[in-house]
Amino acid sequence: MKGIILAGGLGTRLRPLTDITNKHLLPIYDKPMIFYPIQTLVNAGIEDIMIVCGGNNAGDFLRLLGNGSIFGLKHLNYAYQQGQGGIAEAVGLAEHFAGGDKVVIMLGDNIIEKNIKNAAEQFEKQESGARILLKEVENPREYGIAELDGDKIRNIEEKPKNPRTSYAVIGVYMYDNKVFDIVKSLKPSQRGELEITDVNNAYINMGEMKYDFLEGYWADAGESIEALLEANNFVKKYGANKID
Ligand code: G1P
Repeated sequence: MKGIILAGGLGTRLRPLTDITNKHLLPIYDKPMIFYPIQTLVNAGIEDIMIVCGGNNAGDFLRLLGNGSIFGLKHLNYAYQQGQGGIAEAVGLAEHFAGGDKVVIMLGDNIIEKNIKNAAEQFEKQESGARILLKEVENPREYGIAELDGDKIRNIEEKPKNPRTSYAVIGVYMYDNKVFDIVKSLKPSQRGELEITDVNNAYINMGEMKYDFLEGYWADAGESIEALLEANNFVKKYGANKID
């Protein structure tokens, strides 16, 4: 299984902090934001990782992360997303890297307290399809929101004006290799981007989407200045990426 971390975008919700640098290079307590998702994947047993960077200061990822040895990795792979084509477009850039394998994709601004190893292992056992993680939130208008039907997901709505539930789809997505064909079939949304929620709904419509609830704290640190501050305070107090 290969890991892909998405670190593009302009981070407009964090302006002016992101006016001249990349959101994923901003601090979360004592480390740059991007360190956290890399550690999450490493803790889940994933050793082959690609960073898809973009936006401001994309070259700084190479300076900061090098060959990944600070995470115990043998090497790191990089791709560059030009422009603002969306999360799903960034996923498409990793097709060659995936080389037919399953992938665990993580957004570079997501901070997780515990370990996603169990979900990754469940996905490894899954013959095909996709698996996502849900977390109950207080501000469902800011996320992809899942409507459940027992052990199935009925539908995911991206940043709904009138959310039907408060189950946010966090930024960890596990896909089989069909994801790259799905990405190619997508049309840009109203904001002109290829949406990850459309990828997830494609798997739901094929009856191939499974989910788990995430235990412990989760932050989309790029969601707002408040979310960024809260993530900093949480990590200072309690830490992140705990092994068990
Ligand atoms: C993205 C996804 C959204 C998801 C969120 C999790 O939103 O589009 O479905 O819930 O990440 O972090 P973004 O924060 O990029 O707007």
